[in-house]
Amino acid sequence: MNSAAPTTIPLTSPLAENQRNREELLAAAARVIDSGYYILGSEVAAFEAELAASLGVSGAVGVGSGTDALVLALQAIGVGRGDEVIIPSHTAGPTAAAVAFIGAVPVLADVAPGAHGLDAASVKVALSERTKAIIFVHLYGGTAGFPEVLAVAQAHGVALIEDCAQSQGADIGGKPVGSLGTVGCFSFYPTKNLGAIGDGGAVVSSDEALLDRVRRLRTYGWTRPQYAELAGGQCSRLDELQAAFLRVKLRGLGRNVQRRREIARHYIAGLRGLPVALPEEPAGTTHAYHLFVIRTPDRDALAAHLKTCGVMTGLHYPYAIHQQPAFMAVAKMPASLAETDALIPEILSLPMYADLTDGQAERVIAAVRGFFA
Ligand SMILES: Cc1ncc(COP(=O)(O)O)c(C=O)c1O
Repeated sequence: MNSAAPTTIPLTSPLAENQRNREELLAAAARVIDSGYYILGSEVAAFEAELAASLGVSGAVGVGSGTDALVLALQAIGVGRGDEVIIPSHTAGPTAAAVAFIGAVPVLADVAPGAHGLDAASVKVALSERTKAIIFVHLYGGTAGFPEVLAVAQAHGVALIEDCAQSQGADIGGKPVGSLGTVGCFSFYPTKNLGAIGDGGAVVSSDEALLDRVRRLRTYGWTRPQYAELAGGQCSRLDELQAAFLRVKLRGLGRNVQRRREIARHYIAGLRGLPVALPEEPAGTTHAYHLFVIRTPDRDALAAHLKTCGVMTGLHYPYAIHQQPAFMAVAKMPASLAETDALIPEILSLPMYADLTDGQAERVIAAVRGFFA
């Protein structure tokens, strides 16, 4: 008889996916080591071409991280000191940090009632003659609210940056996120839908001139070797090793997102009828389920109960941008961020990763149901 306690179900597990691809990843590493070429070589070029093709954009530029992708995209658009960039207050810190890093002003907007995406009405209120860009974050992998915000950006002639750090594999009407706005920014942080074995990011667009500026800015602002022409350049290159790993993993992205979606369907069916709000997926869109986030006023007690059941959970995020000291000093706040304030204490992320088994998903569902029984 097996009397061992059931193992803990983690919130995420890049380890499982990397072990599943171990042989191919080791072969990719060996290929790079033996090439003798480690920075901006054939692996980065091939990955950039493969990523662009997968998104239906004309080009991609591999950079050091998702945060750097946002910084470089903002710079390439021409956003600078004192310019305003509208962002949601409900997002990962790096969205705001990237804006603040270049001396621009993050102007905070709210999410739509009962939703996680930027609210177009709140964006309209935040617009001013100094607005240079809007960053729409496809938070958790969902796209709800994007078309309305895109329409506002277009009507006001403002650039729209898609923060796709959490949404690789999502689409609207079959068009991948990252290809819908002025420019798309991706993160390959290890737990992301497409995760490196270290840091990485990419800027994607079909605006060749913009991509060219990003390429220059990621390498010291050089327009030719040792000749810095663009101000604000830095060193932020995706390296050959990460690009080689990402090429392996990009081939499995579609399958992994399908699996995340299967798990989400399983959760949604299993949790329906409970007093929890479930993720939204507007008709005609594909949610990439980087995170599976539910909402309940009993959040803290539910999280504690799930922990006793061996089910790990997360908070994405425990603090909104307007609740963090580093951003309070630089951000412009609207009179109210009521929806964000209301959701922060109620959101809870359940385990979600492509290698989660059906049995584990059932354990998660049973544990949540057990709490409300
Ligand atoms: C929405 C969002 N934007 C930007 C980033 C920054 O990505 P990175 O950690 O690769 O710098 C993240 C990563 O956590 C994110 O979730």
